Amino acid sequence: MKNILITGGAGFIGSHLVRRFVNKYPQYNIYNLDILSYAGNLENIKDIEDKENYSFIKGDITELDLIRSVFQENQIDTVVHLAAESHVDRSISDPLIFIKTNVLGTATLLQVAKESWKDDMNDKLFYHVSTDEVFGSLGHEGYFYEDTNYDPRSPYSSSKASSDHLVRAWYHTYKLPIIVSNCSNNYGPNQFPEKLIPLFINNIINNKPLPVYGKGINVRDWLYVEDHARAIDDIIHKGKVGETYNIGGHNEWTNIDLIHLLIKLTDQKLGREVGSSKSLITFVTDRAGHDLRYAIDATKLKNDIGWMPSLQFEEGLSKTIDWYLDNTEWLENVVSGRYREFYEKQYANR
Ligand code: NAD
Ligand code: DAU
Repeated sequence: MKNILITGGAGFIGSHLVRRFVNKYPQYNIYNLDILSYAGNLENIKDIEDKENYSFIKGDITELDLIRSVFQENQIDTVVHLAAESHVDRSISDPLIFIKTNVLGTATLLQVAKESWKDDMNDKLFYHVSTDEVFGSLGHEGYFYEDTNYDPRSPYSSSKASSDHLVRAWYHTYKLPIIVSNCSNNYGPNQFPEKLIPLFINNIINNKPLPVYGKGINVRDWLYVEDHARAIDDIIHKGKVGETYNIGGHNEWTNIDLIHLLIKLTDQKLGREVGSSKSLITFVTDRAGHDLRYAIDATKLKNDIGWMPSLQFEEGLSKTIDWYLDNTEWLENVVSGRYREFYEKQYANR
């Protein structure tokens, strides 16, 4: 029996993790705490909302009194912390909310976990979900390892780096049982269409320009979201307290090559002449401080935990495109909301 608080469980990765835990572990009580920002959507987890071992709490991780009452009322013994502001471009145009949510929010959760567990730290765990962006930008060679020095370069990655440091500070200072994982770029169903893959699928469907930043030569290491959820599950159950685990897909793509593959697959599925949507590609002003390359070495996770990615990229991408084509209502709903304002502001001067 565990009482698990998952923060950010209405977002992209959180919703896949909540579904996995609710279905796989009927003996665990899962409490999903989410503020339902523009990126949080309860539609993402509609299929499990009536399950007996699942409860949703709408709330803000920066509110100390709320977090205290969530811990007390539900005897929380495990935290899986995903709630965050997660989009690099938004962090460039509006950085302070990233500091509030990602830094103060993480500190608030850590502090309440410490207060609640101080008399008995046994069988407790604070699991922090972080990103490979904390390590900065790689050149054309090399990988991020668990002990790579931190070198964050955007407001988003700096706020996530700060949160990682706080988590480790609570471990060293207060002996709070923690684990941190740093993961590469996720893709898959339910991702908000401001990130590259869902934005471009939506724009191909609607014959809208595909805004490629700079020359499209930046490299990302892509992982299917359910593989990330499985990695978190495996680490929670087999990982060592105090450790850090890198999670990645060994799947590096330049943006422009990825976009060509995405166009090929989407054109095929839409019954268009394959490659015809290439005419939508528009090279726009580069992202400020755009990190050139991320690439994770996930050997520790393979050797210590036995985790490996399960999907080839083309297969995962194909499943992802199918999901967006089958869920046009979901897509239209999120695109027509507050996201539209952001979208217009974001691309107005590009
Ligand atoms: P997302 O933006 O899709 O979801 C974030 C969720 O957090 C949303 O449901 C939102 O409502 C919630 N939230 C935001 N502020 C909150 C607050 N103050 N209180 C409570 N809830 C709040 O993000 P995602 O892509 O699913 O990322 C989840 C986590 O994984 C983040 O911590 C992110 O840094 C990390 N991560 C993401 C990726 C990726 O490629 N998406 C890769 C590695 C790590
Ligand atoms: O590496 C993990 C990180 O991956 C996560 O921590 C972040 O939460 C997640 O958003 C993601 O960050 P990126 O900045 O890499 O993802 P994004 O989808 O925004 O961009 C991917 C690449 O595509 C990047 O090089 C910028 C480029 N891009 C993005 C958009 C939105 C474009 O060329 N055009 C676009 O319109």
